[in-house]
Amino acid sequence: MSDDPTATTSPPPPRYDDGHVQVLISQERVAARVAAMGAEIRAELGDVPITCIGVLKGSFIFMADLVRALGGQVRCEFLGVSSYHGGTRSTGVVRITEDLRHPIEGHHCLIVEDIVDTGLTLDYLHHFLAGRKPASLRTVALLDKPGRREVDVKADHVGFTIPDEFVVGYGLDLGELYRNLPFIGVYSP
Ligand code: PRP
Repeated sequence: MSDDPTATTSPPPPRYDDGHVQVLISQERVAARVAAMGAEIRAELGDVPITCIGVLKGSFIFMADLVRALGGQVRCEFLGVSSYHGGTRSTGVVRITEDLRHPIEGHHCLIVEDIVDTGLTLDYLHHFLAGRKPASLRTVALLDKPGRREVDVKADHVGFTIPDEFVVGYGLDLGELYRNLPFIGVYSP
């Protein structure tokens, strides 16, 4: 294998299909929507530094693409949040497992979520971060599943509204697998 940076031959594309996942939103549609959302958010906030706060783990791939689509000055922070989805029902308890590395007071902040499902996580995080006195606090979610909502919350920017299906890929997992799929898919056993 060559590490020549000018080499033009590519390895064969990776394979993902294991027969359990059907494409819901293709890689191309995800890329186009993320690019559009980046431009939309940048236009709304103007030419200010934006502190993006990715909610781990699900948002890591969306965050990586979104910060590049935003352009301009961007800071990247991450929040670790405990999953209360251990069973099939949520307990409504959200716990911070890893805090931000830097203060956000006076910053224009953007909470970056992969999906809003019951809404409990986003609702909790919005209150939690608002208490740190950012200059502004906006929210973006790649996916919105309004059919599962338990609290009345909606992200300011939504990539796709989806039906109540179990989705994986582009950061979203099933038992920690499938996060590396480059598309959003529906899992069926
Ligand atoms: C998912 C997702 C959101 C949250 C949304 O995280 O990344 O943070 O659930 O659900 P809600 O609207 O019902 O609160 P998950 O707990 O699966 O952890 P992960 O991101 O590490 O996969």
